[in-house]
Amino acid sequence: MIQIAVLGYGTVGSGVVEVIDTNHASINKKAGEDIEIKYVLDLREFPGDPVEKKLVHDFETIINDPDVRIIVETMGGVNPAYEFTKRALLAGKSVCTSNKELVAKHGPELLEIAKARDINYLFEASCGGGIPIIRPLNSSLTADEIDEITGILNGTTNYILSKMASDGSGFDEALKEAQEKGYAERNPEADVEGYDACRKIAILSSLAFGCHVDFEDIYTEGITRITATDIKYAQAIGTSIKLLATSRKIGDGFYAMVSPVMIDSNNPLFSVQGVFNAIFIHGNVLGDAMFYGSGAGKLPTASAVVADVVDCAKHLHRNIMMNWSSKKLELMDISQVTN
Ligand code: HSE
Repeated sequence: MIQIAVLGYGTVGSGVVEVIDTNHASINKKAGEDIEIKYVLDLREFPGDPVEKKLVHDFETIINDPDVRIIVETMGGVNPAYEFTKRALLAGKSVCTSNKELVAKHGPELLEIAKARDINYLFEASCGGGIPIIRPLNSSLTADEIDEITGILNGTTNYILSKMASDGSGFDEALKEAQEKGYAERNPEADVEGYDACRKIAILSSLAFGCHVDFEDIYTEGITRITATDIKYAQAIGTSIKLLATSRKIGDGFYAMVSPVMIDSNNPLFSVQGVFNAIFIHGNVLGDAMFYGSGAGKLPTASAVVADVVDCAKHLHRNIMMNWSSKKLELMDISQVTN
């Protein structure tokens, strides 16, 4: 049996508990061992909830328990998630996370610690919700030199833009719906200002290009200035407004940006509606590939986290090497891209 702990019993953390409970037989079979949730860490109480007896309020209980081999970090935010993750890895416990903020900021350091200890730091759920994209970039696509990634990487903003376009809803109403459905970040500024998509394109680019793409280098503009009139005009000329995140490898550097873009119906991203995400990738030998699916939400995101738990269980003493070095990739001037 492999015992695990879940840090944070919010939307994704509770989804992880639900997925492990719902699919326990097949998950245990695929992991080769029974996965048991021993602790759930949260500051809140959950009276009557099935996890009530597993609930702890102090990380020390988890870090000091040698039976806990894998930790699921679904707290979000950099602090205290960074400290908890680092201590867990240093103590020889693998960590799986959906926390793109932490992965984008401290990914190379945390991967290095995991590698040195023959354990794993996995983050499939950090980009694209339930869409498999981290694993393909790190395995199926490794024969390629990836030179472009372009995607709709934020479900909340795509939901808002789709709703505004389909029924004329206002921005605030559409955002409220996305929050009610559990798509939005705790602070939706990260979604609507494009910061969430920025961190995701930084993570994907780092893995695709094998060096560190700093999210702070990426020009980022969200959708807060998009009005109903903009959407009507875009529709009148047969286009659709999408928040795109794009990144290109240019020589020894890169260029990336996040911004709202008008795209026409020939673009495969045109028909991506609602909370769905899509990620287009170009490789020098593969050509084009598209990944599409549920980009946010409790169960799709939890599905990706639990897949990482299964991988950690299968590789308890073997590091799955990630193609992401700490060497910083240089940001190129936009003029070098267009010339
Ligand atoms: N708030 C994020 C989104 C959640 O809307 O895409 C998934 O990362």
